[in-house]
Amino acid sequence: MNVTLIGTGYVGLVTGACFAEMGNTVTCVDNDPAKIEQLRQGVIPIYEPGLADLVTRNVQQERLQFTTLLGDAMQSADILFLAVGTPARPDGSADMQFVLAVAHEIGRHLQRYTVVVDKSTVPVGTTEQVRAAIQEELDARQVDVPFDVVSNPEFLKEGVAVNDFMSPDRIVIGSTSARAKEVMAALYAPFVRNHPRILYMSERDAEMTKYAANAMLATKISFMNEIANLCELVDVDVEQVRLGIGSDARIGFHFIYAGAGYGGSCFPKDVRALMHIGAAHDYEAGLLRSVDARNNAQKKILFEKIHRHFQGELQSRTIAVWGLAFKPGTDDLREAPSRDLIEALLAAGACVKAFDPEAGAAARRAFAQDVQDSGRLQIVEAQYEAAIDADALVLVTEWKPFRHPDFKTLHRLMRHHAIFDGRNQYMPSAVRDAGFTYAGIGRTA
Ligand code: UGA
Repeated sequence: MNVTLIGTGYVGLVTGACFAEMGNTVTCVDNDPAKIEQLRQGVIPIYEPGLADLVTRNVQQERLQFTTLLGDAMQSADILFLAVGTPARPDGSADMQFVLAVAHEIGRHLQRYTVVVDKSTVPVGTTEQVRAAIQEELDARQVDVPFDVVSNPEFLKEGVAVNDFMSPDRIVIGSTSARAKEVMAALYAPFVRNHPRILYMSERDAEMTKYAANAMLATKISFMNEIANLCELVDVDVEQVRLGIGSDARIGFHFIYAGAGYGGSCFPKDVRALMHIGAAHDYEAGLLRSVDARNNAQKKILFEKIHRHFQGELQSRTIAVWGLAFKPGTDDLREAPSRDLIEALLAAGACVKAFDPEAGAAARRAFAQDVQDSGRLQIVEAQYEAAIDADALVLVTEWKPFRHPDFKTLHRLMRHHAIFDGRNQYMPSAVRDAGFTYAGIGRTA
């Protein structure tokens, strides 16, 4: 099949590369010429395991190409995917300007029956708006070209996106058109050969499914963070509680890890967008508001613990931070808890030495240049370098190399011996036996 993808962000690039890998001919379109040029040369703008190989191989085998020219790319397309951004507006609602601008452009170029698929996370009713925008352009051109618009939300996770795409839990297809469903079923058949996993529903149902899935996962995390905070008050170890409740199949072990809060481009944005959908209909989504509020407060918890430990005196302290990305396996810093922590430490007068296996370059761009120039924030190249002369070590992102550190070396390198474990990776007794104070999230004192 000929597939065209509009938008070469995480979702667009992974989707394009995976469809190409399954033997389709794929064209990825982006209006950023520099990005397209880089992609043509095999430079992938994001760190995503397995993606660079996939892109290079499929470009070499001429199944994957990149262009800025949507009109040309559309001519041979059987299916056209919209994977452009839907950033949050200041009020939390999703900004649809990119999706609708692309829809109008599609309408201006459409020549033959095409299935237009919305893969961006969008408010309920967007599929209808996309259809109306395309139709408006066809009417203006006074042509009658058949087309369908389908909602096909993406559930991939950064860091394991290629694997998620290749082996999906489910594929949600929101469409009432038999013709479009047939095209979508054929496209996805290779991904579900051994296990039928396609769910058909209405467009609006599919749009809501995407938000509900992310909001449910965010709720689990905020719930567990709340329990962790309660555990601390009554001298209970949340890690035991996690095991105790996760073994109930109705609860399950996934997404009940207490920590420094959830980040990323999806959970914070989608929870707020869903709250906004409620507000637009005079409904106060109080549970979602609490999920969001707990997360904002949770992102401050590591700083509060460090501040208490040093009795408010942080001016002469150097804090080592392990992990900057919002989660392991990515170089993405969007809404990362590390940012809140580092900003708060710097504001309190502390110096910070931070290390991340992949997000160092992104962090150098994200943090203010003057604090980096002055040396108050150093983003270093090696894990143990961050600990040299540090007064405390904070684990913020649980990359694998941080999970089993050499505490003896750390003890030797550090000036003062405090470990703050923002992801509950360490055995408190092992850390204490090595001569450190230990503070996790929701663990016994
Ligand atoms: C999330 C969803 O998991 C995907 O299914 C979805 O497709 C994606 O959003 C999206 O809408 O595009 P992602 O943002 O890549 O994926 O990351 P997650 O693995 O879900 O982690 C999100 C955050 O939650 C991270 O900061 C992580 O550290 C935190 N987390 C996760 C916890 O604090 N505790 C947990 O138990 C699990």
